[in-house]
Amino acid sequence: MIATPLRIAVLASHGGSNLQALIDGCREGRIDGRVVVVVSNNRKAYALERARNHNIETLVVSEGMFEGSAAFAADLLAQLQRRKIGLICLAGYMKMIPKQIIATFRNKIINIHPALLPKFGGPGMYGMRVHEAVIAAGETESGATIHIVDEIYDNGRILAQHRVPVLPDDTPESLQARVLEVEHQLYPETVAEIAAGKIILE
Ligand code: GRF
Repeated sequence: MIATPLRIAVLASHGGSNLQALIDGCREGRIDGRVVVVVSNNRKAYALERARNHNIETLVVSEGMFEGSAAFAADLLAQLQRRKIGLICLAGYMKMIPKQIIATFRNKIINIHPALLPKFGGPGMYGMRVHEAVIAAGETESGATIHIVDEIYDNGRILAQHRVPVLPDDTPESLQARVLEVEHQLYPETVAEIAAGKIILE
């Protein structure tokens, strides 16, 4: 059984529009949970501003602040444990999650990817590159995927997908906008189902 209200940490590196969708989902009561902390590796991330706007605690933790990756991983892990986090949501987090954290929070870390995994995932497949690759491959549909995070990029169990068409005159930018719109629905919906025990993470 998952403890509710679900204590959620969101890790984000940039704009945080998916973070916003999760904050809104919690505040509007669609998710039986609360974003208790937003963590970024990038102190200039607009995601941090979004968190502050809602009085959500923010943390900037990046590898460069520590002497080595082990110290970084240990600190980030301790920060998450201290706050009794039940679910870690990656939302445009551009760094690999340290193995130690994946092991400790096994099946409690999820990610959103802007394509229909297992296609168009893996190292190097992020941001606009994903949409460029989808168009270059002549795909007629794309979408968003929520999956569990394990030690391999974009590899863990798929929890939910939402499809969108790829239109003949699409540019990577227009496709990205269409996918992002469904991401903002899919992420809170999926987290709501996790909090409600309708999706079991194992
Ligand atoms: C989204 O497209 C998400 O799928 C990917 O990174 C992007 C983050 O966008 N993982 P935002 O920061 O939530 O606006």
